Amino acid sequence: MEKMKAIVYTEYGEPDVLKIQTVEKPYPKDNEVLIKIHAATVNRTDCGFRSAEYFISRLFSGLFKPKNTILGNEFAGVIEEAGREVTGFVTGEKVFGYNDTRFGAHAEYMVMPENGAISAMPENLTFEEAAPITEGGHYALCDIRAAKIKPGHNILINGATGAIGSAAVQLVKYFGATVTAVCNTKNVELVRSLGADVVIDYTKEDFTNTDQRFDFVFDAVGKSSFGKCRPILKKKGIYISTELGKNSENIFLALITPIFFRRRVLFPIPTFNKGDLIFLRELAETGKYKPVIDRHYKLEQIVEAYKYVESGQKTGNVIISINSR
Ligand SMILES: NC(=O)c1ccc[n+]([C@@H]2O[C@H](COP(=O)([O-])OP(=O)(O)OC[C@H]3O[C@@H](n4cnc5c(N)ncnc54)[C@H](OP(=O)(O)O)[C@@H]3O)[C@@H](O)[C@H]2O)c1
Repeated sequence: MEKMKAIVYTEYGEPDVLKIQTVEKPYPKDNEVLIKIHAATVNRTDCGFRSAEYFISRLFSGLFKPKNTILGNEFAGVIEEAGREVTGFVTGEKVFGYNDTRFGAHAEYMVMPENGAISAMPENLTFEEAAPITEGGHYALCDIRAAKIKPGHNILINGATGAIGSAAVQLVKYFGATVTAVCNTKNVELVRSLGADVVIDYTKEDFTNTDQRFDFVFDAVGKSSFGKCRPILKKKGIYISTELGKNSENIFLALITPIFFRRRVLFPIPTFNKGDLIFLRELAETGKYKPVIDRHYKLEQIVEAYKYVESGQKTGNVIISINSR
């Protein structure tokens, strides 16, 4: 049996539950590919599954202990081997993708089904640039689609510097709407460079103290509430937060506001498929969407990476370099 290095967790908890271990190298089934991982990310989904802070995540990851013991949902690497039935990928091809059901990218190798969210890598990007295309991008895309934004809509994005927020600014601009973005002083220039039309520094101004009215308020870091944002929504305006809110109120509000109120809360269930991946790839390839990268860590430094991501202060994405040349 061939071996590989991987970051393994066998219990839920703090970042210290993650251990670097030598484990069995996975083997691709007939419809799968084996990928040599060159870059992955540590993101909030990895953190959520590792800590199981929200009990609901255990319904997917295992009630008492994790079923899949290697995290990492975003990856970029090279096809090492293709199963007998695989027709869409060849050995040596550069690929990237996303897997938040089986995870597995915090390792030297992982397997992916051919029909999963995996695609040829954008030719003009490095592994480190391609790995972070999907996590922030797909959450942003899902929420933007749910809000049915159109050219001319006026959108406010709070937390425009997170992985989701920084993707959302770029995608909303791509769809032709106007963006007011909220961030910290140090990131005002960055957010402007992503395409924001107006930038509000939250250390100086409360974004809800504005005369502007928005079609869609997207709280990409879950720091506000519908109650606070309701006055700045237009009639029929939509509020979406990436967090459940106080006492999980956003779930409840998503059920009742569409029936009883003109201003609505939505709480879309995120989905992601190959088509979405290819859409994001094309935007990345043509420079319309560029994931923001903060720090790089080596696989051996992954506990530090998790601690940083959990600080809530990362700007964009945190990259893990694996099998680096
Ligand atoms: N549980 C899950 O599975 C899961 C999965 C994905 C996402 N999420 C949630 O989605 C949210 C976003 O995740 P993310 O990875 O995109 O970003 P993140 O790491 O949570 O966000 C970091 C950014 O938020 C900004 N920020 C912090 N406090 C702020 C405030 N009061 N107002 C405005 N911005 C503020 C920080 O910018 P400054 O340095 O400028 O303050 C930093 O750039 C998180 O709440 C996360 O929990 C959850």
